[in-house]
Amino acid sequence: MKVFVTRRIPEKGIKMLEERYDVEINPHDRVLTKAEIIERVGDADALLCLLTDKIDAEVMDAGPKLKIISNYAVGYNNIDVTEATKRGIVVTNTPGVLTETTADLAWALLMAIARRVVDGDRFMREGKFRGWAPMLMLGTDVYGKTLGIVGMGKIGQAVARRARGFGMKVLYYNRKRKPEVEEELGAEYVSLEELMKRSDYISLHVPLTPETRNMLNREMLELMKPSAYLINSARGEVIDEPYLIEMLKKKRIRGAALDVFWGEPLNVNPELYGLDNVVLAPHMGSASLETRTKMAVMAAQAIIDVLEGREPVNKVNYTERHK
Ligand code: NAP
Ligand code: GLV
Ligand code: GLV
Repeated sequence: MKVFVTRRIPEKGIKMLEERYDVEINPHDRVLTKAEIIERVGDADALLCLLTDKIDAEVMDAGPKLKIISNYAVGYNNIDVTEATKRGIVVTNTPGVLTETTADLAWALLMAIARRVVDGDRFMREGKFRGWAPMLMLGTDVYGKTLGIVGMGKIGQAVARRARGFGMKVLYYNRKRKPEVEEELGAEYVSLEELMKRSDYISLHVPLTPETRNMLNREMLELMKPSAYLINSARGEVIDEPYLIEMLKKKRIRGAALDVFWGEPLNVNPELYGLDNVVLAPHMGSASLETRTKMAVMAAQAIIDVLEGREPVNKVNYTERHK
């Protein structure tokens, strides 16, 4: 059986596949074009792909033997799951193993934008440091403030758990209310409007779906306090990004820290690079050596399960959305 891997991933996952199957890996250190994927998927029984690969009906039609599409990410908005399900192709993702790592990164972004860590680093490297000064690099406190979490799933909860150590009041908005989480984390369930109005920090953790696309539209963004910060480590398209950029330019909010963007990977809005009230990260939420290795094992195991006739634990077809 043949497995096509669209980008080199940690060796441990590759070895698991190579012990059993004929494995072809993208030889380049770059995202493949759709045409290149189509060309290589022709005789593949399994596809291991990235969130940067758009896997739609056209790609599936080019791979008539495909039995599984294993996404090397927890978010799978890059895959047309309905089309896969129609063709009997199993789709899997990598939930759980990246939860804490991604929550750490959301917090790193929050701290970095609030306390001007990147500004400070730049200032030092430019040789501008003349010693401690009363008015130097004044940021905003984190401790004791209000954190609004949009999407109280695995990562949202991990972010909320960390907030306790910072003595924060936690508000959350989610599709369904989660009383057990309220109990455990002392979080308060509010409407999205109320969350936008009351939060000092807003952190996004919803998947990108037709319902969450543009969820933070103009009207929602306009509800933010002028002193508030927005942190996005979910997906760029959850926010009206052009409008957010306008707000940042006008200093309508204090700042934003972003790990995900419209048009990524290749067409990130260059206006962002000119703003001094943002921290930007290259979609690195799950990027720790340990976690990327666990993701590789999980993505490989799903392929082995399906090719050996077992149901993988991380299958996403036949959920409410995709049955
Ligand atoms: P998860 O456990 O499935 O959590 C998602 C949460 O969002 C669930 O609580 C879900 O509510 C909620 N939700 C879904 N649709 C909603 C809607 N229309 N309105 C309100 N809430 C909604 O997923 P996760 O593992 O935490 O991951 C979340 C997302 O983070 C991923 O989908 C991915 O896009 C992103 N991510 C980014 C990085 C990065 O590198 N930056 C890394 C990992 C993940 P229910 O409880 O009602 O289902
Ligand atoms: C990363 O963005 C993921 O969805 O795993
Ligand atoms: C700062 O370094 C202080 O001692 O307050």
